[in-house]
Amino acid sequence: LINVCILGNGTVGSGVVELLNKNRENIRKRTGEDVRIAKILVRDINKHFREKYFHLITNDISEIWNMDVDIVVEAMGGLYPAYDYIKGFLQKSKHVITANKDVIAKYGDELSKVADRHGVCLKYDASVAGGIPILKPLQDCLAGNEIKCFYAILNGTTNFILSKMYNEDMKYEKALEIAQEIGFAEANPDSDVLGYDSARKLAILSSISYDSRVFWDKLYTEGITEIDEIDIAFAKKIGCNIKLLALSAKEEEGIYGAVRPAFVPFKGKLGMVSDEFNGILLEGDAVGQVFFYGKGAGKLPTASAVIGDIFDVIENKKMRSVSRAENEAQIITKWQKNSDWFIRVECDEVERVIDFIKAKFGNITAIYPDKAIGGIVAFILEVENEIILDIILENLQGISGVKKIKKTIIIDL
Ligand SMILES: NC(=O)c1ccc[n+]([C@@H]2O[C@H](COP(=O)([O-])OP(=O)(O)OC[C@H]3O[C@@H](n4cnc5c(N)ncnc54)[C@H](OP(=O)(O)O)[C@@H]3O)[C@@H](O)[C@H]2O)c1
Repeated sequence: LINVCILGNGTVGSGVVELLNKNRENIRKRTGEDVRIAKILVRDINKHFREKYFHLITNDISEIWNMDVDIVVEAMGGLYPAYDYIKGFLQKSKHVITANKDVIAKYGDELSKVADRHGVCLKYDASVAGGIPILKPLQDCLAGNEIKCFYAILNGTTNFILSKMYNEDMKYEKALEIAQEIGFAEANPDSDVLGYDSARKLAILSSISYDSRVFWDKLYTEGITEIDEIDIAFAKKIGCNIKLLALSAKEEEGIYGAVRPAFVPFKGKLGMVSDEFNGILLEGDAVGQVFFYGKGAGKLPTASAVIGDIFDVIENKKMRSVSRAENEAQIITKWQKNSDWFIRVECDEVERVIDFIKAKFGNITAIYPDKAIGGIVAFILEVENEIILDIILENLQGISGVKKIKKTIIIDL
């Protein structure tokens, strides 16, 4: 008999209860084990009295602490006390499964070592891209590859907002309001819209893939709050969509890691990932490109990833953790590859900027002065890398009357 305790009975926790009950027979057939939910921890017990399984619910962690439990599922969220509980249960030699990217992105390496020392598993497949199985394929099926890069849409909230802006010509504020109304965005949406949520997930993916510790707060992070209808109009004009991409690549000098808005071809793999869906395109040296697509969040999709981890723990499958490597990755925040960039210049004298661009750069592929949009020049520039681009843009900034320059990478996939 396997005793499971669940910390949290919110979206994910209640989904885990539902799926575990549904899959009990299946688990017995496949593993020969009976799984029993022993206790469920919540903060405010009064919120849960309607649950059929109310008799299992407690708001007292010490009850679980002192129980005979085999697997603890952490689905509370936030850094603390989640980190302390996870560490405490691992130290008591209990297997822990978590959906918590905040804890894994910050303490994943430390907690993996604690799990190792106590001979138990720490699993967190649900922490990145919810229902999309991505960590396991990386650690398992793709283990024979050197992962070269990721191009990923890892945040459903921002993808939903951008889809509304793009498909329905909606302003950012209105799209955010709708996302909040239907529960896709939180009352304080900062973690999503400023790109921190994607950065945490990217750090977890990168740490596993490149076998060195990648900390999310070292990555370049730009959110979607500055994207406006003019950017959308220009994207449409060149057959592109705008997506918040989590980008990472193994380069000679280190690991490039960034979360930033990007133009992607409208009909490409990433351009077609819309609404709350997630997509991850990765490139391995042996396999080439592989694309993962699906629901990155939600009750049952996320619970599906947790149940997968429960199967693995019961079948005693050990996977490579966030990173047992001692070395911290050298992070590069400027894009190293030859790429096209979309440049938008707000200025007093459009003609003067166009003359400068024409005189200076032979490699301009398109210019879009648009009479309908006064005071804005937009063009596409192909450059060897972002460092060179920044030098060019610094020169451009020096022209009198130039007020603001915005650069957006074009990922042609
Ligand atoms: N929601 C998703 O689609 C999704 C997808 C992937 C990953 N995740 C991750 O999964 C985790 C849970 O997310 P969620 O959406 O399920 O959150 P949620 O709906 O807010 O539920 C959180 C649950 O944890 C309980 N809780 C919170 N703090 C607690 C504390 N200090 N002591 C005891 N119980 C506590 C809450 O109790 P009360 O009910 O009494 O307040 C609630 O039942 C987060 O780490 C999140 O990032 C979520």
